[in-house]
Amino acid sequence: MNAPQLQFDTVAVHAGREDLAALGVHALPIDLSSTNPLPGIEAGGLSYEAMANGGTPTAEGGSVYARLWNPTVARFESALARLEHAEAAVAFSSGMAAMTAAILAGGTGRHIVAVRPLYGGTDHLLSSGLLGTETQFCAAEEVAGAIRSDTAMVVLETPANPTLDLADIGSVVEAAQGVPVLVDNTFATPVLQNPIDFGASMVLHSATKYLGGHGDVVAGVIACGEESAAALRRVRAVTGGLLHPLGAYLLHRGLTTLPIRVRAQQATAQRVAAWLARHPGVARVHYPGLDGDEQGLLGRQMRGTGAMVSVDLRGGFEQAAHVTSAVRLFTHAVSLGGVDSLVQHPAALTHRPVAADARPADSLVRLSIGLEAAEDLIADLDQALTPPMSTTAGARGAARPAAA
Ligand SMILES: Cc1ncc(COP(=O)(O)O)c(C=O)c1O
Repeated sequence: MNAPQLQFDTVAVHAGREDLAALGVHALPIDLSSTNPLPGIEAGGLSYEAMANGGTPTAEGGSVYARLWNPTVARFESALARLEHAEAAVAFSSGMAAMTAAILAGGTGRHIVAVRPLYGGTDHLLSSGLLGTETQFCAAEEVAGAIRSDTAMVVLETPANPTLDLADIGSVVEAAQGVPVLVDNTFATPVLQNPIDFGASMVLHSATKYLGGHGDVVAGVIACGEESAAALRRVRAVTGGLLHPLGAYLLHRGLTTLPIRVRAQQATAQRVAAWLARHPGVARVHYPGLDGDEQGLLGRQMRGTGAMVSVDLRGGFEQAAHVTSAVRLFTHAVSLGGVDSLVQHPAALTHRPVAADARPADSLVRLSIGLEAAEDLIADLDQALTPPMSTTAGARGAARPAAA
C-alpha cells in the first residue's frame, strides 16, 4: 500500500492498523498492562533509559512500564500523525496536559507569545505563569513585534474558541522568525486543516472533542516532528500525564468516522448559521466565511468551515441564560465536537478565567453542532429564542456573577 497516495478518508480508516492481519486480528488490540515482563536487567534498563529520555522501547528490552510506553496508545499516535502530515504524535491525558507538556518541553526559553482569543483553559494556564513562563498576549498581526530572543513558542488557535476568528498560519509562522509555532487545531480537525502544511511545528488537539467524537473520552495529542516528539515523550514519561489505553482505543476507533462526522456536522452547521443570521433575536453570527473571507483562508488553508457556531444574542446575558435553559435537543454543557449538539456561555464557563478585557461578550453563546437533523436543531433554537427576550437589556448583563 503506497500510503502517501491514499485519500484522507482511507487513511482515517486504515492508519495504525497495518500489522493487524499479520497478528491475526481485525479490531484494534488493547494492551492494559501496567508493567511488562523484563527479558533481563541490562536489556530492560537500557530500554527504560531510552524511553525516559524521549525515545522508543528497544527491541531487546521491551516496553518496561506503561508510563513510558503503551502499544495501544502508540497505534493511535501513529494514525493521528499521518492524518496531520506529521512525523510523529504524542498523546496525553487531556488537551491541557498536552499544552502543559509543550510548554515544559519549550526548555530554556521562558517567554511565550500567544495569539488571543484562545480556549479559556489555555489562556488561564499561560496567564497564570504557573509553569514559570511569561506570556505576551497579542493579535496575529502583532506576533513579529512580540518575539524576543528568549521566546520559546508561539501559540495560536484557528478557528479560535469561541469567536471562530481565523488566522493565517503561514503569516504567523513567518512573523515568528524561526520560533516554533503551536497551532491548536481542535476546532478544524485534520479533516479541514493541516497546520504543518503551512509551517506549524506542533499541532495540538483536545482529542476530547472531534477526534473522540462521542463525549466519552478526555485526551490530548500533539502531532509534530520526531525531535519535538522526543521532547514531549520525555516530559510525559517524567511527569506522567499519559493517556489510558482504553481512551486511545476509543480515539483510534473515532478516527475512522472522523471525516464523515465532521463533514455531516459542518453541513448542518452551515444551515444553522445561515438561519441564525436571519433571526431578529441574533445580533451577529460568528461562523467562518459568513461575513466574507478577507484573508482568503477558506479553500486555501481550510478545506471547510467547520461545525462550531457562536452567536451574539440581542438581550445580552439575560437572553443567553434563557436560551441555554430553554433548549431541548441541545444539551447545556461545556465541551464540543461530539455527535450530539451542545450549547454553552463561554464568558461564564469555559472562558471564565480569562482577563476581563479579553473575555468573550456576555451576549455570546457557543453552539457545537452534532449529527441531528438540521430541521430539528433549527426548530429547537427557534422555540428557545422566543421571548422572554428583552432587546433593551444591555449587552453586558448586570445579573451575571463576577468571574473567578
Ligand atoms: C480549543 C481547545 N483547546 C484545548 C482544550 C483543552 O482540552 P481538554 O479539555 O481536553 O484538556 C479545549 C477544551 O475545551 C479546547 O476547546
